[in-house]
Amino acid sequence: MIIEPRMRGFICLTAHPKGCEQNVKNQIKYVKSKGKIDGPKRVLVVGASTGFGLASRITSAFGSDAATIGVFFEKEPAPGKTATPGWYNSAAFEVEAHNAGLYAKSVNGDAFSKEVKEQVINMIKEDLGQIDLVIYSLASPVRMHPETGVLYRSTLKPIGQTFTNKTVDFHTGNVSQVSIDPATEEDIANTVVVMGGEDWKMWMDALKNANVLAEGATTVAYSYIGPEVTEAVYRKGTIGRAKDHLEATAFEITDALKDINGKGYVSVNKALVTQASSAIPVIPLYISLLYKIMKEKGIHEGCIEQIQRLYADRLYSGGEVPVDEKGRIRIDDWEMREDVQSQIATLWGESTTENLVEIGDLAGYKQDFLNLFGFGFEGVDYNADTNEMVMIPSIS
Ligand code: NAD
Ligand code: NA
Repeated sequence: MIIEPRMRGFICLTAHPKGCEQNVKNQIKYVKSKGKIDGPKRVLVVGASTGFGLASRITSAFGSDAATIGVFFEKEPAPGKTATPGWYNSAAFEVEAHNAGLYAKSVNGDAFSKEVKEQVINMIKEDLGQIDLVIYSLASPVRMHPETGVLYRSTLKPIGQTFTNKTVDFHTGNVSQVSIDPATEEDIANTVVVMGGEDWKMWMDALKNANVLAEGATTVAYSYIGPEVTEAVYRKGTIGRAKDHLEATAFEITDALKDINGKGYVSVNKALVTQASSAIPVIPLYISLLYKIMKEKGIHEGCIEQIQRLYADRLYSGGEVPVDEKGRIRIDDWEMREDVQSQIATLWGESTTENLVEIGDLAGYKQDFLNLFGFGFEGVDYNADTNEMVMIPSIS
């Protein structure tokens, strides 16, 4: 079939298998160009199919020759109906990994469930024995609690008072005011249940109890801080409470892994266009200004550049892992640079529908958004008849 993007709000209903494959190949090429990392050999990535998790799987495999198990929740294709991009990304990743002689298997299911944890543990026991690194990179709006069966929903709301600020509809470029009502106590608690650290800890406990974590095993989850303009809706909002919980969980995990000299870290990453971040109000306007400034300064990075740097310069640089005063790894250091943020503060006030094309990088935002779904890649013939029924080797 001929596959075209079909946009519906913050998502695209179609995905292009050849474009997703190109995306994976581009990321592999980048990681290889940076040379070998003296890193982990057996890696589990939870949330491995898109965004930071996919970049982590690629960096593990092609930077450090690691065997990888990837867990994700994606929709498979049906005749005439494309899969979700993470499905095609994972299919392409496995093919590339297998061609390079690397072990790669995937589990498509609900990572919050006990069943998927068990399935992964059995896979580790059968194939790899133990794991050296666990990357936890889930982004989900809902979580079915494994003990109670209750379905929790996360929200993106300010706490305490209504938040009003600018935002942009990145499809139209229209800059407008958005007002978001404050969260209830229940909203806060639910968001912490979905995006906080409880499930991360459950994964680490299950892996440890099954004796499938190697001596010195490390685990990393991803967090975000960001600038003042997004603070009310992000870091000081409901999602921020969940990130506070996630960050506190890193210390609990380190404690629980003491006898195997294991470590739990949170890495604070840069703001990037992903399926998760496009849905957060205010963030797309911030990102379009940020991209422009960081590209001008030659310090712009995507997920793969961020994670390659996380491995090479932080986790596996040979020395102590550098952390901030709260024990967090910071690869948002370039985003948070004083010269970058002071320019954001100025441009934020000035930005309008009329000038955003010039003072912001709306084109870059749109390009990245299309890329998420496998569209807009050079070297892909989008007019060609394309097989949508691409399967993941280890799953089908
Ligand atoms: P993403 O949407 O690209 O990836 C989410 C991953 O989680 C996908 O692999 C998806 O399949 C998987 N997933 C979702 N629900 C699942 C479930 N129930 N079971 C199994 N897998 C499931 O998101 P992302 O932007 O890469 O975010 C990953 C992490 O990085 C999040 O914790 C996010 O807060 C953090 N982060 C994101 C940004 C950003 O700007 N995008 C910045 C800093 C930190
Ligand atoms: Na991810």
